[in-house]
Order: sequence, then C-alpha cells, then structure tokens
Amino acid sequence: MAKGLILGIESSCDETAAAVVRAGEELLSNAVASQFTAHQPYGGVVPELAAREHLRAIAPVVRKALTDAKVELRDVDAIAVTQGPGLAGALLVGITYAKSLAFALEKPMIAVNHLEGHIHAVLLEERQKGNRELRFPLLALVVSGGHTHLYLAEEKAGHWTYQNVGHTRDDAAGEAFDKVAKLLGLGYPGGPVIDALAKHGDPHAVKFAPVQLKGTPRNVSKKTQRLDRPADVPAFDFSYSGMKTAVLRHVETHDLRPQIAQRAEALAKVAKPTADDVRRLCDQPTLDLVASFQRGIVDDLVQKTLAAAREFDVATLFVTGGVAANSELRTTFEREAAQSGVPVFFPSRKLSTDNAAMIAAAAYPKFLAGDLAEAEFSAEASLALR
Ligand code: KG4
Ligand code: ZN
Repeated sequence: MAKGLILGIESSCDETAAAVVRAGEELLSNAVASQFTAHQPYGGVVPELAAREHLRAIAPVVRKALTDAKVELRDVDAIAVTQGPGLAGALLVGITYAKSLAFALEKPMIAVNHLEGHIHAVLLEERQKGNRELRFPLLALVVSGGHTHLYLAEEKAGHWTYQNVGHTRDDAAGEAFDKVAKLLGLGYPGGPVIDALAKHGDPHAVKFAPVQLKGTPRNVSKKTQRLDRPADVPAFDFSYSGMKTAVLRHVETHDLRPQIAQRAEALAKVAKPTADDVRRLCDQPTLDLVASFQRGIVDDLVQKTLAAAREFDVATLFVTGGVAANSELRTTFEREAAQSGVPVFFPSRKLSTDNAAMIAAAAYPKFLAGDLAEAEFSAEASLALR
C-alpha cells in the first residue's frame, strides 16, 4: 500500500476540520465542524469564541476523520496542520493538538500554509479523477473570506513555490459578501445566502462603478515571468471596500433601513434560516441590489484574473477558496476562460470552503521531501505564501 497516509488538521478560522488523505490524491475522510451557531448572533467570526469552539470540537472531529477513513492513529505516516495565516488563537488549538498527537505517537509533523492548502484542494481532486496532466505556468486565484490573492505556482521535482502577483488592497471578496449581507440584514455568512438570492434578482438593475485602482503600472518580464519589481508590489490588485460603500449609499438613498431592520429582527427568531426563509423577507428591489452586487464582484474577479492569465501566458487556471463555491463565479469563469482557451479548475464545493483534506494534500510533497516542522514551530497569523 502506498505510503503517505496523512492526517490533516485545520483550525485557522471558524471551521474545525480533520481529514485523512493518502498520497495527496485519495480522500479517505473529510470531517468539518462548523461554528455557525456560535458566531451567528454576532453577524461574523468572533476570534475568542472561535478558539474556544475549536477546543471543544477538535478531539471529536479528529476521531470522526479517523473512523470515517477506517484507519487507526498508529497507521498514519504524518500529521499535517495549518500554521497560518489565520486567527492566532484559533490556529494554536489545531497546532497544539497536532503537536501532542505527534509527540505521543512519535509521528513526523508537517506545517502547512492555509493558502497553499486551498491550491492543493484542486490538485487533490483532479488527481483523484485521474487527471495527472498539469500544464504550467499555473495561475491560482485564492478567493476567500480573508484573501483575494493571485499566485503563479511552480513545481520542480515535487517542490512547490509561489509568487504573489496580485492581492486585495482592502476587503477580500468573501469579506465584502459577508459585510454586504450583514448590512442588508441577510444573515451570516453572506456568500452562500447572496449566491442563492442573486438567482432571483436582475444583475443589471443597479449600476456599480467598475473598481478603479490608482497605482503605477508594473512591468513583467515575459522571459522569466517575474515582476521586475519586488514581489510585494503586485501587479493585479483587487479592492472591494468601494462596492460595499456603494451598497451602503444605495441603502441610504433608497431609504431601505426600516425593511432591513425588520428582516434582521425576523431572521433572528429563526434558528438556522434557509435561503428561502431569507428570500421571503426580501422585496424585488433588494433581490436586484444583491444580484447587481454579486455581478460586480464576479466580473471584477474574472476580468482581473484573466488579464493576469494573459500577461503571464498561463496554461492552467485554478480558482479556489470559499468564494469559489459561488455559482455565478463558476459559470462566468468557465465561459470566459473557455473563450480565452485556458482550462480552469475548481475544487468541489465541499473542498472550496475551509477543510483539512486540502492541508493533508498540500503536506504530501513536503512529506516526500522530508520537509518536516520543527518541534517548536508556532502559529503565524500573517504567514505569507512563497
Ligand atoms: O475559504 P473559506 O471557508 O475561509 C477563509 O479562508 O476565509 O471562505 C469563507 C468565505 C466567506 O466569506 C463566505 O461568505 C464565502 O467564503 N463563501 C461564498 C460562498 N460560500 C462561501 N461566497 C460567495 N458565494 C458562495 N457560495
Ligand atoms: Zn480558507
């Protein structure tokens, strides 16, 4: 049997997750405990609460991952855990748990960057489908609650490196979804509910000005595909706080506050509101506003990513992270990328949002290379991906 049975543990934000993956390509289990009910009353993730909830969930979630995979802890070849980026207190729960398992069982430990995990979620599923042909250069859009980042990824003899060629200057796309949902009294998290509501609205009803970024143009060497400026001056930046402010302005000019307050009050009485529950509380102009907002974000993400894909002459595009679960983003990317001739790959919806299978998958090349974590490694809230 192939070596490389890896137990992954992920606790960077508001999901406690554990998974068992063999050789970076065979998903044996994927357990995720959502902290939805803990954070819902606050309309967003409360860091202290997240750490406490991870502590409660971590042991049962790891047990479930092992039981579902039908493996014993002693059979595992390595334990992989998210080192960052994320909430420091939340990360520490996963890291401390992973360390104690590794210490007690004398297993090697692998520290994984959460963003690298999102990229490897795509690789895991493609390999599982038997697709091993990966053409480089590869451009990955990691679009989640905390990140809107573009990376050029390279693999040489199993060793992966990443160059950041664009990032958000303010709000991440997922954060904008969450903040706008909160602003409109639609509940938390905002992405899935806006995704569902937008299907019932007119995406052309409200005009949002295109996102304009001021800055000096960056020069890219076509030969080396490297920026001729430092990597911390990226070329394809995003910005979504302006869209959020435009929604706020629309709310004020259209006097929507009373109905938003009514909706938020009605939803607060429902334990776990469905998208249909929310939709029944929205009038058509609100659905149109939501659809227009989503279209604005999606268009900007797709256009900038495809512009970067052209600039770097990429052969493969990955779109991953929580917002990659968005239906309109997927269909728009598929349509536009097909026109430009670049194949685009997404993870399944289950592996788009935070999970530990992606952590176990990203750890596998490091396991093969003997790139293990030191016993004293710790959480890094702003860990960069390189
Ligand atoms: O990757 P993820 O689970 O956690 C982070 O690393 O941030 O992403 C969570 C983000 C949240 O902002 C959530 O609103 C957004 O992903 N999201 C979506 C959808 N599902 C989750 N955004 C748009 N459409 C969705 N269907
Ligand atoms: Zn994530």
